Amino acid sequence: MKKIQYLLGIETSCDDCAVAIINSKGRVLAETVNSQTRHHSKFGGIVPEIASRHHAARLNNTLLHVLKACSMQVKDIDIIVVTHKPGLISSLLVGVQFAKGLSQSLRIPVLAVNHIEGHLLVGFKQPNFPLIPFIGLIASGGHSGLYLYKIKHEITLIGTTRDDAAGEALDKIGRLLGLPYPAGVYIDKLSQPASPKYFIFPMALEKQVTLDFSFSGLKTAAKTAIEKKIKNQQDLANFCASIQDSISNALLKKAMLACQKYNVYNLVLGGGVAANTKLRHATIILSLMYSLNLYLPEKKYCSDNAVMIARAGLNFSKIHKKHTLDFHVESN
Ligand code: KG4
Ligand code: ZN
Repeated sequence: MKKIQYLLGIETSCDDCAVAIINSKGRVLAETVNSQTRHHSKFGGIVPEIASRHHAARLNNTLLHVLKACSMQVKDIDIIVVTHKPGLISSLLVGVQFAKGLSQSLRIPVLAVNHIEGHLLVGFKQPNFPLIPFIGLIASGGHSGLYLYKIKHEITLIGTTRDDAAGEALDKIGRLLGLPYPAGVYIDKLSQPASPKYFIFPMALEKQVTLDFSFSGLKTAAKTAIEKKIKNQQDLANFCASIQDSISNALLKKAMLACQKYNVYNLVLGGGVAANTKLRHATIILSLMYSLNLYLPEKKYCSDNAVMIARAGLNFSKIHKKHTLDFHVESN
């Protein structure tokens, strides 16, 4: 196979239409994330049909824009990396079919990667990104899980949410508060400054040795607090700070448990919730307390983007069996 110099990443698993070009050192040459948030927010969540139509309408131009931004031509690309799971089927299909078509016409390989592995490997080849083994904590709107990356090219799920993902819980609580979708970033902003211990919410599975999370109880407790205890703007700020505190504690408690259980003290965070101010501070403090080697992606690389897909592709690009058109899209 030809030596890989330039990788094209394509991400259309949900509502962001993202394209990036990186080089073999993982350096970003150009990237774009076309957010569709404004088209979905009035519905209080993602509408799959709207998402896929927007991807279909924009993907080609997004690629042309990215190529222009780094003064490259499509024939300069050596390999295409595309998200094929998990996500919304109709959205994934747009990206995957586009990538397969491009691969055929340019006669270059296409590599299918898992969106979660993209979040985990967003820092691949970057300074401070740990060598394997590491524990990955992914907290986004669709997923919350703990992963062990121990053997080259093999990532194992070691803990997951039993109900809502952390971001999903924040978005649902935000909806009860009348905040726009997705609410995580608004809850983050409203929390500053406020008292994170003003409301004490229960932590599910706290005393159990499981690495799983659960956030549905928090949602119920939040609903009661919203109905009975939020009377003014300061209550609202305290409430938001307390919700964040509770979610951060739950995520980090299990992440720490995973580090201890597997005797792995390299920790990587990812997913949209990893942009949360409280979670980031709390993780840094934890890493200092327990001498963890921590990788916190830049905020813009916590939420969905195509750099993470391209970098995951760089990590996996030596696996020959994945270079085939014989792969399919898969939802959650
Ligand atoms: O990774 P992502 O962009 O998409 C999925 O793969 O789901 O994550 C989106 C989630 C949403 O639930 C959003 O509310 C949450 O990340 N989020 C945040 C923040 N920014 C985005 N949650 C808390 N604090 C933030 N600053
Ligand atoms: Zn994501």
